Amino acid sequence: MTFKSAQPVTHSDNDRLAKILADPGFVNFFSDHMAQAEWSLEKGWHDPGLVDYQPWSLAPGTAVFHYAQEIFEGLKVYRHADDSLWLFRPEMNAQRFQRSAQRMCLPVLPEDDFLAAVRALAQVDAAWVPKGAEMSYYMRPFLFADEAFLGVHAANKARFAVVGGPAAPYIADGLTPADIWVTTTYSRAGNGGTGAAKCGGNYASSLFAQAEGADHGCSQVLFTDASSHLWVEELGGMNFFLVTSDDHLVTPPTSGTILDGITRDSILTLAPALGLTPQVRPIALAELLDGIADGSVREAFACGTAAVVTPIGCLVHRHDGEIMRSALPQSLGDATRAIRRQLVDVQWGRAEDSYGWLQPVTSN
Ligand code: PLP
Ligand code: COI
Repeated sequence: MTFKSAQPVTHSDNDRLAKILADPGFVNFFSDHMAQAEWSLEKGWHDPGLVDYQPWSLAPGTAVFHYAQEIFEGLKVYRHADDSLWLFRPEMNAQRFQRSAQRMCLPVLPEDDFLAAVRALAQVDAAWVPKGAEMSYYMRPFLFADEAFLGVHAANKARFAVVGGPAAPYIADGLTPADIWVTTTYSRAGNGGTGAAKCGGNYASSLFAQAEGADHGCSQVLFTDASSHLWVEELGGMNFFLVTSDDHLVTPPTSGTILDGITRDSILTLAPALGLTPQVRPIALAELLDGIADGSVREAFACGTAAVVTPIGCLVHRHDGEIMRSALPQSLGDATRAIRRQLVDVQWGRAEDSYGWLQPVTSN
């Protein structure tokens, strides 16, 4: 599909844009345009286009409002020092979008169409890609059941769109260690559930634990496995890593309940060159907390497209009815700092892209 505008393209005036770019928050403002396409059982994918960012009119009976048949992705456009614009491993987002669609009985969008939509939006709204340390343009491709009925079944019509806007770091300045609430009460995903799919319902169900975490001064929640609550899984919107005192970089396997993060995969690939031995294996919560106490777990961090690499300063958890705080020996440790630096330097074009992860926005 080709994502083009049928109308002459218009843009926000420079004053409005300059004000937004000066303080964008994490996508508190959306750029001027969006890419979109429709799907139906009879016609397949059709009506691709680039239109002004605008509200839609949807019938109250539209299936997505009732049964949450919806998926999404998140990826960033990076502006390099020479003003060129780049995407980071966007084919991985396209492929994960396909896996999420399959799990949620939504139509599978061809990889090339996903990439064409993302590129078309990044090109038309290039002026919205900020410059400056850790600033980017965050894109949100999404796909949902767009048919009005109340029976529980897969919709025969769906709508795909990509919206986006300028983004400052997701958590604080990205370097300040975050306090994380560990829940052993609520679950994000169970065996056979939708944990490995990037579907909206996973995030809605994380909000209650997130609110509990906020009550204990924490900005994010680390979830444990749903059946025993003995094993560490991931955060509501990020993967989890720990660093041991003998330089192992450990993250749990993404065996169905954990999102297969692109940042996670990139970090596992970068680790050996930074003197760290990557290890994908289950992490027991007891091992983590005991390791923090005896110093064998030196650092921990959360990672994702939005959060990049966020150091964890302290794990806050309930033990025998008491609230306990386990402070990491190094709240912003050397390994976390080195991984973060290497990743952002590749993304922003300051380090060699040895794995060919960057793609220019303009190529087709
Ligand atoms: N885990 C969850 C639940 C997420 O929402 C995200 C963010 O996309 C991640 C992990 C990290 O994935 P990625 O690095 O591909 O952004
Ligand atoms: C991302 O990192 O892209 C996500 O989708 C996570 C979300 C919490 C913003």
